[in-house]
Amino acid sequence: MASSRAAIGLLVAASSLAVALSDGGSSGPEYGYAAGSADGPENWGKLSPAYKMCGQGKHQSPIDIVTKQAVPNPNLDSLTRTYAAANATLVNDGHDITLKFDGKVGTITVSGKVYSFEKLHWHSPSDHTINGQRFPLELHLVHKSADGAVAVIGILYQLGAPDSFYYQLKSKLGEMAGDKCNFAEEESHVEAGLIHLRSLQKRTGSYFRYTGSLTAPPCTENVVWNVLGKVRQISKEQLRLLEAPLPGSDARPTQPLNDRTVQFYNPPNSTISFQM
Ligand SMILES: *[C@@H]1O[C@H](CO)[C@@H](O)[C@H](O)[C@H]1NC(C)=O
Ligand SMILES: *[C@@H]1O[C@H](CO)[C@@H](O)[C@H](O)[C@H]1NC(C)=O
Repeated sequence: MASSRAAIGLLVAASSLAVALSDGGSSGPEYGYAAGSADGPENWGKLSPAYKMCGQGKHQSPIDIVTKQAVPNPNLDSLTRTYAAANATLVNDGHDITLKFDGKVGTITVSGKVYSFEKLHWHSPSDHTINGQRFPLELHLVHKSADGAVAVIGILYQLGAPDSFYYQLKSKLGEMAGDKCNFAEEESHVEAGLIHLRSLQKRTGSYFRYTGSLTAPPCTENVVWNVLGKVRQISKEQLRLLEAPLPGSDARPTQPLNDRTVQFYNPPNSTISFQM
């Protein structure tokens, strides 16, 4: 249902203050994805002082990952994770669709620091590119530490067989597509019920690691990125369900790597979808 942002703020505050405080999405001005428009990605940094990193940051995301330049590092964390089923809410803020979880779902450990899984969202087409190739969809599993640091697992999708994870969201996404709201003032919320995450917690396998930023305003830096080396499949119908509630694409252009290095973790017996 469509609900005003103010009312949602109160509801969220009552159930989970941490989420309300850390979720900067609706606190700044509107921004868009149309290249060259006044509120487009090139101008995000000028829309608000709160968004200045989008324009000035030197360690921004997404990037183009050049596989031949990735530096193998067998000592990175395995990112082993177990996610419990949890009740969730689908939220459409007019930019992207997020699935927010109630309560504790699971954690990952990066360099000894524990990050709790908080929400997931999609970008269509993908934010990250690999050797210049953009994919139809990218899923971000967003994890946050007690001190507010962010670690994201990014999963790229190509068109192919349906992914069983999305069966449980089908009717809710359909409902969301029918919910017409004025996104400048409100967002669309649909209760998704109990969501099982088993299919998203399979052995992490190989991944590309670099330090970047949130891919949407406020473009906050020091985000630990982990883009999986195995591309998953999703059906055309499932992709259409994820795109239907949105006004358009929500992928940010890739950003300069500057002085950063992309590392590559490739444990035994893991699948990698790219020429390395
Ligand atoms: C999910 O919500 C239902 C209905 O409110 C509740 O009965 C159930 O215990 C919740 N499950 C979890 C895992 O929180
Ligand atoms: C890798 O796969 C081989 C063949 O299936 C198996 O014998 C080996 O134990 C596996 N190694 C690891 C580290 O899982």
